[in-house]
Amino acid sequence: MNMVAREIVKGVFSLSAIDWDRRYFDELIPLPEGTSYNAYLVKGERITVLIDTVDPTKKDELFRDLEELKVESIDYIVSNHAEQDHSGSIPDVLERYPEAKVMTNAKCKGMLIDHLHLPEERFRVVSDGEVVDLGGRRLKFLLTPWVHWPETMVTYLEEDGILFTCDFFGSHLATSNLYARGDYLALSGAKRYYAEIMMPFRNFIKKHIAKLENLEINIIAPSHGPIYREPKTILDAYSEWIADEPKNLAVVAYISMHDSTRVMAEHLVDALIRKGVGVKQYDLMRMDIGEYAMDLVDAATVVLATPTVLAGPHPAALNAAYLTNILRPKVRYFALMGSFGWGGRTEEIVKNALNFLKVEVLGTIMVKGLPGEEDLKRVEALADEIAKRHEGLEKM
Ligand code: FEO
Repeated sequence: MNMVAREIVKGVFSLSAIDWDRRYFDELIPLPEGTSYNAYLVKGERITVLIDTVDPTKKDELFRDLEELKVESIDYIVSNHAEQDHSGSIPDVLERYPEAKVMTNAKCKGMLIDHLHLPEERFRVVSDGEVVDLGGRRLKFLLTPWVHWPETMVTYLEEDGILFTCDFFGSHLATSNLYARGDYLALSGAKRYYAEIMMPFRNFIKKHIAKLENLEINIIAPSHGPIYREPKTILDAYSEWIADEPKNLAVVAYISMHDSTRVMAEHLVDALIRKGVGVKQYDLMRMDIGEYAMDLVDAATVVLATPTVLAGPHPAALNAAYLTNILRPKVRYFALMGSFGWGGRTEEIVKNALNFLKVEVLGTIMVKGLPGEEDLKRVEALADEIAKRHEGLEKM
């Protein structure tokens, strides 16, 4: 059990359940550094509020903390987000504290009823910008939809300048450090989190960050990973990630059955490096999708290389194309390389899988069998095109 209540400022506590061993989230997202679920307790003179809860697997630890802090009554559980890693212990908290109500926005209320079957009468609905006085301190609720579900909001503790952001600015990082110290691990965890979860909603995030500029924020307290006592660290990092301009980075992802596509991918990577293009090469059989997503945050170009299997792309290549598409990165250029034995519809299938991306297709190089000298010259010409397009982009 790892859950320790720690006071952030007088009367405001972090109740963080550290999940050192979890290795997948949503059975999709790798968690190489584990994760944490952070609830927060805010004590006003009249009203006590629990902000979010923890994953239901950690509810006993939450109750242990509440007992340790001698919390005899909770007036409201603020739910910033209906996903179960934050809301899943709400039914148990409502049972333990029969006077408590869930304070959230109308959309989130509907989703909590859908997912957790919470009773209608246990809610108090708040609207965008509404302020609730706890006695001596006030909470302000700001709707920030689509980070990353439609009901998401943040809660601002006005007197202390603490912004409770739930997933927003979070990181999947199991650490005993209560606070991020601007270290590589904290920012790398936050970037991975942004890439996997927030990137498809980049344009919403831009608007929400602009809205937050009106607040005096001293502390950003997300519900995953460490707290930011220097909010600028994470706000500056987000500004870089959500910027429209990509960097001088080409991601080359390949899978090879009989070496033909491996030869092409490696030839391209060598040529790009010679021309000053930053490159990340991935073998799709061994790729960590989180690392791939992190590179998509910055990449200007994606090149996919696949053999032809039963008249189409290798399923791993199609999976990568699908993932690239749904993450909606700011990538500008795409190219396809591949090999075939006697034909197929690889090009058509891959391009259809990229329908969300507004990319310029720089070329398709499909080779019959093992690539020869002429084929490799075409690969070098593709490297030339990529290098030309990357001129002027910031180096990684
Ligand atoms: Fe951490 Fe979207 O839940």
